[in-house]
Amino acid sequence: MTDKRSKLRRIIMDTRTLPTLPSVINKLNSLSDNEKSSIQEMAKIVSSDQVLSARILRLANSPSYGFYRVSTISNAMILLGVNVVKSLALSSSIFAIMEKDSIGLWEHSLAVGTVANLIARKLGLPECEEIATAGLLHDIGKVIISIKCSEAEKDIIRLVHEKRIYTMEAERETIDTDHAEVGGWLSKSWFLPDKLSEPIAFHHDVAGSVNHRIKTAVVHIADVLICAGGFGNSGETFVPPVQKIAWDTLKLNEQILAELVDETEDKLVEVKNFCLEMMGD
Ligand SMILES: [Fe+2]
Ligand SMILES: [Fe+2]
Repeated sequence: MTDKRSKLRRIIMDTRTLPTLPSVINKLNSLSDNEKSSIQEMAKIVSSDQVLSARILRLANSPSYGFYRVSTISNAMILLGVNVVKSLALSSSIFAIMEKDSIGLWEHSLAVGTVANLIARKLGLPECEEIATAGLLHDIGKVIISIKCSEAEKDIIRLVHEKRIYTMEAERETIDTDHAEVGGWLSKSWFLPDKLSEPIAFHHDVAGSVNHRIKTAVVHIADVLICAGGFGNSGETFVPPVQKIAWDTLKLNEQILAELVDETEDKLVEVKNFCLEMMGD
């Protein structure tokens, strides 16, 4: 591993240097290892942080999860699962740091989460909530790069436009790693399960995902669909191609794709309204 890359990895894996709310998440991590801990106990810990709870409930009621009416943290844990709630705590805390600068990326992330859920349901896949969450978090590495390497981020954006290359390529050229790998490191440092960390780490390289390729393929397709629709801001100047392995893994065909594009358009109106509402206060 190069110097730059290992230095960045060290910074990211050291949770103390991350601008999040580690006390609650660390407590949750230690509890989930202990089989005796109940959902009620975990819910009590999360609920002790009111700002965080409010953010989690808001996301739990977002279009990414198909509009449940979730009003308490313990209901969110029962309906969405402990890992999903933990991921929502993580993503909302990290995105909160970026605030207004990251509206475009927030819109992109929520849209990918929503469409990932749509695809998962259409294909009758299990664990739709996990897939939606992986979609919501897939570009979290970009947020981390922007927080941890703000100078490099400017170079990355400049390169993408000057050389007309993908963000991944510009990132590798500038910091010897990319947002997918950084997202993978982050999910490991937060003890997220492989079913979330693999789609995050391999959403631009579906073949690299070994244990959860179906989930990774869904997130990849959702990402491409949202880029192609021009919704939000993924940071790309042109649309990445659908990887054949993703298409084959999900056994997609032209007809399913056409239906997905139609259904996506309807859903995006909901996502847009949700984002406007969120940014409103
Ligand atoms: Fe990405
Ligand atoms: Fe993306």
